[in-house]
Amino acid sequence: MNWKAAVLTVSDRSFRGQRPDEGGPLVSALLQGAGYEILRTAMVPDEQEEIARVLREWADAGDVQLVLTTGGTGFSPRDVTPEATLAVCQRLTPGIPEAMRAASLSITPRAMLSRAAAGIRGGTLIVNLPGSPRAAKENLEAVLPALGHGLQMLSGAPADCAKLKD
Ligand code: MTE
Repeated sequence: MNWKAAVLTVSDRSFRGQRPDEGGPLVSALLQGAGYEILRTAMVPDEQEEIARVLREWADAGDVQLVLTTGGTGFSPRDVTPEATLAVCQRLTPGIPEAMRAASLSITPRAMLSRAAAGIRGGTLIVNLPGSPRAAKENLEAVLPALGHGLQMLSGAPADCAKLKD
């Protein structure tokens, strides 16, 4: 299945033009390498309402099955991406951030500082990634192999959980 995806960069500094957005393009490239088609990309500042507005709009448009965010998952006072994500999701998928943190802890103890969340709104899976390109890549690579199976189930199509790959 050729899944369609969207990537949202959340960063005050990139939004103001003070830092180039490296995380968003890297996440898009990783998804494309795994066969996803990127239909939408955008950048927003670390504002909960702004993040939530874009997530709602993209999920409700119904054309992407996966939305990845990058940035805003840490402890800084302005880091609110998980709160925006939780506010728009109807069902949570805690196994995804659990897997990202578990894999990342073997790389750095700072992995525990990511508050990334993930969940489902309608037919769209939304997953938070940290902001640094390296952290985003490491977190995404930890879960990417399993995402297609989840998206298959989410679409309502038969998904054989006994099969090791699909
Ligand atoms: N996960 C991996 N795999 N590699 C990393 O370097 N950095 C951590 C964590 N997760 C990191 C990681 C750090 S230092 C922080 S503060 C959090 O992600 C949150 O990052 P964010 O605020 O950019 O979203």
